Amino acid sequence: MSDHVLALTGVNAWYGHAQALFGLDLTVDAGQIVALMGRNGAGKTTCLRSVMGIEARRSGSVQLAGQPIEGLGVEAIARRGVGWVPDDRRIFPTLTVRENLQLVRGIAKRQGRQPMSVAELVEVLPIMERLIDRKGHALSGGEQQAVTIARALVGRPQILLLDEPTEGLAPVIVQGLAQSIAALPERHGVSILLAEQNLSFVRDVAERVYVLDIGRLVFAGDTAEFMESPELQERYLAVARSSGTNHG
Ligand SMILES: Nc1ncnc2c1ncn2[C@@H]1O[C@H](COP(=O)(O)OP(=O)(O)OP(=O)(O)O)[C@@H](O)[C@H]1O
Ligand SMILES: [Mg+2]
Repeated sequence: MSDHVLALTGVNAWYGHAQALFGLDLTVDAGQIVALMGRNGAGKTTCLRSVMGIEARRSGSVQLAGQPIEGLGVEAIARRGVGWVPDDRRIFPTLTVRENLQLVRGIAKRQGRQPMSVAELVEVLPIMERLIDRKGHALSGGEQQAVTIARALVGRPQILLLDEPTEGLAPVIVQGLAQSIAALPERHGVSILLAEQNLSFVRDVAERVYVLDIGRLVFAGDTAEFMESPELQERYLAVARSSGTNHG
């Protein structure tokens, strides 16, 4: 038995008649941060949604810690320890950050899990300390991103699915986020599958890289190997040579 926390085997996904993923094989091991890269429309979000079992019609196998989850609904999958951070960062605007987190703590408790405390969350995401009593509508994009990640951590997931967390964030904020995310596996035993287009962020946090191109896997390997290949980056990402900035 391998120690894959997450394993996708031969996953296909469709929106109507249009196929968006073609036979995707992908694994995330315990304690790993794995990046899923590719241009706009490559299929990154569809891959994360396929794990959560939402929207797209799928076939193929999805296993969480060796157990099949592909037939389960989104809540059952979350309960088994998959934390989902969608790209829209939706937090309740009229509630404070603390109240937003409290909602999820309530859910975790009802599911018999010991939710992360605010203090623990602040330890992971220091920016949270000064946001905790602010209303959702009074947060910047980077602050919202931190809160969305904190919310997904409350239930102590085995694996976190992050959908382009750096999109639209200033470089200095991205740096802070990279530190927070890179520390998660060791600090909380969380593995991470990160959909991302920001090369420098991926270089800073990820151990392995998968690259999708129009729904097909075109590269899987060590992050260092991908970073050393400007040809691969030019062919499959929306980046200019030697650029490390966010084009999301
Ligand atoms: N709800 C939807 N209905 C129909 N087609 C969709 C839907 N969502 C995505 N698609 C299509 O599926 C393909 C993969 O899209 P997906 O959102 O997974 O790409 P992505 O890599 O996440 O792109 P981005 O970087 O822009 O977020 C694209 O061709 C897209 O147009
Ligand atoms: Mg996407």
